[in-house]
Amino acid sequence: MQNNTIFGKVMISEEQLAQRIKELGKQISEDYRGEEVLMIGILKGAVLFLSDLIREITVDTKIDFMAVTSYGASTKSSGVVRILKDLDSGIEDLNVVIVEDIIDSGVTLHYLRDYLMGRKPKSLKICTLLDKPERREADILPDYVGFEVENKFIVGYGLDCDQKYRNLPYITCLEEA
Ligand code: IMP
Ligand code: MG
Repeated sequence: MQNNTIFGKVMISEEQLAQRIKELGKQISEDYRGEEVLMIGILKGAVLFLSDLIREITVDTKIDFMAVTSYGASTKSSGVVRILKDLDSGIEDLNVVIVEDIIDSGVTLHYLRDYLMGRKPKSLKICTLLDKPERREADILPDYVGFEVENKFIVGYGLDCDQKYRNLPYITCLEEA
């Protein structure tokens, strides 16, 4: 952590995460009743969320992963997305749910949605643990949202700052000391 940065308060506790993820799993299980669903986790931030979420889903579930990065090192998304790891298998005629940690500008998901739609899935939905609607630039409306959060820099439960703090079991934020 930079020495002028401290953790803010716990924004979402372990218990709140578990409760909300149970609800999301139930909702997804109802929406896909009698069907199979492919959950695509976006590395690395969504790993903890995906692994907890799929244990709450009762319909047949498969998982796959993609890794993407925005070009440019600025904190603001540059609008151009590069794929670092693509899916292992095709998605044609499958029910796909993209699982993200957080939607900020929406640029990453806007690109990913178009990219995956090109592969002709049966359906495509977006599930994000956190949503920062205030920051939206791209036209993206997630189908499943865990929590709306304020415009702060969030860490924990998969979300990082320079690859650190992903292992915190709760959601907090970084603040100026
Ligand atoms: P977007 O393309 O601007 O929506 O950016 C989405 C990606 O930026 C997320 O998948 C995260 O990896 C990262 N990100 C956005 N906001 C935060 C944050 O507050 N904390 C940690 N990572 C973030
Ligand atoms: Mg991410």
